[in-house]
Amino acid sequence: MGQVRGVPDIADVYPDLEALSDAAARLFVERAGRASSEDRPFRVAISGGNTPRRTYELLAQPPFRDQVVWERVEVFWGDERCVQTDDPRSNQRMAREALLDRVPIPKEHIHPVLCDEAPGRAAARYEALLRALFGGRPPRFDLVFLGLGENGHTASLFPGTPALDERKHWCAEVYVPGEGLHRVTLTAPVINRAAVIAFLVSGAAKARVLQEVLEGPTDPHRLPAQLIHPTNGELRWLVDREAATYLKQGSPTR
Ligand code: 6PG
Repeated sequence: MGQVRGVPDIADVYPDLEALSDAAARLFVERAGRASSEDRPFRVAISGGNTPRRTYELLAQPPFRDQVVWERVEVFWGDERCVQTDDPRSNQRMAREALLDRVPIPKEHIHPVLCDEAPGRAAARYEALLRALFGGRPPRFDLVFLGLGENGHTASLFPGTPALDERKHWCAEVYVPGEGLHRVTLTAPVINRAAVIAFLVSGAAKARVLQEVLEGPTDPHRLPAQLIHPTNGELRWLVDREAATYLKQGSPTR
């Protein structure tokens, strides 16, 4: 049993998913603008699941759409389910529908995880792609969007899986028995190298796990989201009021 964690991460609490998504879109625009002002690409690793969809939709329409230099944006995924790309469970499909097919991002700047055919090699292939695109050095994403599962998982770092202890590889293959699915995920060390990591957490169903992750004892094998702490960056928790129900922190409500 780990001791109770130190200073809990402080969450930014928003009235609802719409306000949370607006804040997440603003964060994306702000970080993309910083990369652009430094004359370098903006490399973002996006999350799957349902929560971030509204953020992506907002980015695909004015005013946010017109505030991003899309030609400088490079998109990666924090994880992917190993399904056909037209499968409703595909994170790539969701991001393309909500955002990528609706903005002028060069198609060669979109780097999906390809694992619909050969899951066994997919993690190694994605790691090789990252190695090529980041000059052989471990990736440092400008921004990583993450979600939180009701069981404490994030990306596809699921409780009790070997991927939680992976420190050498940047990507790992995960089999999720409850889903009967293989997945590919970035590993915690790579995620933690990011300049900004932003969790987007919405809804009453996440309230218990959010309180455990932020304010409960440290137990990352049971609550993998607790593995996420930037080594040299900023951690943001953007949550809505329903998800923040049980937080003890003095939460600023935006
Ligand atoms: C995935 C996600 C996963 C997700 C959580 C929360 O591919 O499933 O990367 O980590 O963020 O499961 O999902 P919801 O946003 O749908 O609640």
